[in-house]
Amino acid sequence: MSSNPCCNLHIQLFLGLAALFLQISSQSKVEFLPGFQGPLPFDLETGYVGLGETDDDLQVFYYFIKSENNPQKDPLMLWLTGGPGCSSFSGLAFQNGPFKFKIEEYNGSLPNLVLRPQSWTKVCNIIFVDLPFGTGFSYAKNLTAQRSDWKLVHHTHEFIRKWLIDHPEFLSNEFYVGADSYSGIPGPAIVQEISNANEIGLQPLINLKGYLLGNPLTTGEEDNYHIPYAHGMGLISDELYASLQRNCKGEYRSIDSRNELCVRDLNYFDECLLGINKFFILDRYCEDVSSKKPEALWRRSLTQRLKSSFVVPDIKCQIFGFFLATQWANDESVRKALHVRQGTIERWERCYTADFVFQIHSSFEFHVNLSAKGYRSLIYSGDHDLVVPFTSTQAWIRALNYSIIQDWRPWLLDGQVAGYTRTYSNQMTFATVKGSGHTAPEYKPDEGFAMFSRWIAREPL
Ligand SMILES: *[C@@H]1O[C@H](CO)[C@@H](O)[C@H](O)[C@H]1NC(C)=O
Ligand SMILES: *[C@@H]1O[C@H](CO)[C@@H](O)[C@H](O)[C@H]1NC(C)=O
Ligand SMILES: *[C@@H]1O[C@H](CO)[C@@H](O)[C@H](O)[C@H]1NC(C)=O
Ligand SMILES: *[C@@H]1O[C@H](CO)[C@@H](O)[C@H](O)[C@H]1NC(C)=O
Repeated sequence: MSSNPCCNLHIQLFLGLAALFLQISSQSKVEFLPGFQGPLPFDLETGYVGLGETDDDLQVFYYFIKSENNPQKDPLMLWLTGGPGCSSFSGLAFQNGPFKFKIEEYNGSLPNLVLRPQSWTKVCNIIFVDLPFGTGFSYAKNLTAQRSDWKLVHHTHEFIRKWLIDHPEFLSNEFYVGADSYSGIPGPAIVQEISNANEIGLQPLINLKGYLLGNPLTTGEEDNYHIPYAHGMGLISDELYASLQRNCKGEYRSIDSRNELCVRDLNYFDECLLGINKFFILDRYCEDVSSKKPEALWRRSLTQRLKSSFVVPDIKCQIFGFFLATQWANDESVRKALHVRQGTIERWERCYTADFVFQIHSSFEFHVNLSAKGYRSLIYSGDHDLVVPFTSTQAWIRALNYSIIQDWRPWLLDGQVAGYTRTYSNQMTFATVKGSGHTAPEYKPDEGFAMFSRWIAREPL
């Protein structure tokens, strides 16, 4: 008559564990990766952290790489790539992670991976997280409801707390948030949310020390710096610059279409910059072919068109690497190796930017609040980026009114000037990476690594 309490308990326990492992979160060590020769010489773990209540509605995918130096003592950093909606795998594979794609002619077979000697994981534990939902391998039942600035902030905060519960051995490590490009907007808000939650005693306590941001979007004023920057870099004439200043009065974002002289000057400006790669003005300009229908670009026979479901970019272009990443991440063997749950993601896109609700228009106030609380910060700029020019970054830093601790000076690598730096009160450091673009460590890996490893070790640049 009466049920067996022992067995019921077991069943309950089993169901509880099943829920925990199948739905809430999972983690797996990855020892081999398709395209990489031999076992990985670093510790890679991939996994999911489930947010929300109990079901598998919101699943955040991450790549975690242990420091190759001293994982117990080295800091732990959460990395967010920009977009909004670019997979942090982009940061891993193209900027600061331990492997990258081997740039070689694509012949249809799986792209190869090679080590990046200047990986930031040489000195730091890094979690590369796929957020907002819809990004990379993270998935949610109803994407539309999950894609906004504040959702991204809350999800990232919830993610890191849950991740630390699953990895208590990292609770005492110093914790940093690293972000670049668009994530200059949600990044500081995430840091503030973590800090606020720590203050009210939310567990587990996160050993938050600071944040670093690369060419970060911050105030929305950035667009007004494109023209002065292009002038300073010799991309437009003195006369056009003078005329633009006169006719548009320094406001180049929302143009009154009745202001014909300003519109005329801006059209001329656009023509001058048509062939310029805005992410790195020294690099090749390459049309992004990924969004184009193959038919439009492959004017070949029908059979060839049917065979090619994609367009291969020029191997000399940065986007060739993005193409390799997309081929790689969509390969079944890769997904298996990464322990991506079957049937959750149809096609991996490096960036999924649709349907995002922009709610935070400036992160300036977050910087004001955070530095008052004593968090360290490194703000760096690849100085040949037109998207977020270093001049716009310096302008908002100046507007913080911090006193200068050590004034503008070159910082060196191998006896050569690698960029310029200045330190401010409130533990803020600004640095340029000379001759680099929007994603500074991508184009200047040695300099990027030197800058990061010095800053994270609290050494002067
Ligand atoms: C493609 O090139 C790789 C070497 O990079 C080679 O191992 C492979 O066999 C080639 N595949 C095809 C289909 O030609
Ligand atoms: C998804 O979320 C949106 C926004 O909250 C909502 O309007 C819509 O009804 C939801 N769709 C489904 C299928 O639940
Ligand atoms: C900064 O901190 C103040 C005081 O805690 C708070 O009222 C304000 O909302 C914060 N600013 C932002 C942008 O969160
Ligand atoms: C910086 O100083 C200016 C001029 O005194 C002032 O208007 C502004 O509010 C200050 N900014 C901050 C963030 O305190």
